[in-house]
Amino acid sequence: MTGKRFHSSKKKKLFTEKRLKSLKPAELLSELDLKEGNIFIDVGAGNGFFSLPGAEIVGDSGKVYSVDVQIDMLLDLKYRAQQVGLTDRIEIVKSEDNDANLNQKADFMLFAYLFHEVEEKEKFLNNYFSFLKKGSKVVFIEWDPAKREEGPPLHHRVKSEHLKSMLEQRNIKNIEIENIDYNSYLISGRKI
Ligand SMILES: C[S@@+](CC[C@H](N)C(=O)[O-])C[C@H]1O[C@@H](n2cnc3c(N)ncnc32)[C@H](O)[C@@H]1O
Repeated sequence: MTGKRFHSSKKKKLFTEKRLKSLKPAELLSELDLKEGNIFIDVGAGNGFFSLPGAEIVGDSGKVYSVDVQIDMLLDLKYRAQQVGLTDRIEIVKSEDNDANLNQKADFMLFAYLFHEVEEKEKFLNNYFSFLKKGSKVVFIEWDPAKREEGPPLHHRVKSEHLKSMLEQRNIKNIEIENIDYNSYLISGRKI
């Protein structure tokens, strides 16, 4: 466990009305091209802010793999999935720091608000990117180090240009960066 990790006792903070209204996860995932039938791997899924709307989108023919190092977060996700009848579409996966513990490859892989918590970033990316299908979409959402609003300490945050170069080194093409919310950026691309 690292000092940067989001503590599961704060998990309710991830489902505030403010966050839902501001990030609009269902709309965001659709705009990013998540589709019915997709294998969606949500890395650092937490308690399901993106996995739950993702499961609505991928439908019965798709599947969501919600990966997290903290079982508390995943159990809350499971409970939330049960409440809305989505358990069949979501598989929770307890991972280790740099070991995804997956046996599926993704059409769409999301890393939302987690990368700044990862200690061994190169190792982590090498591991997860081995689970990307050719042509798959990769999306990161991260805290902007240039913004001084709420969030993790500025020195934990990752600059978008730095992340971009790590993606380029791993054959991710068509990289786009945009500002989202009031304090975050989104970077996306495709594995060739
Ligand atoms: C701030 S929460 C974000 C959760 C969710 N993505 C969201 O946006 O609501 C970050 C999550 O990443 C998880 N995490 C941190 N390091 C991880 C790693 N190396 N592998 C998988 N999950 C990790 C934490 O346990 C935590 O649940």
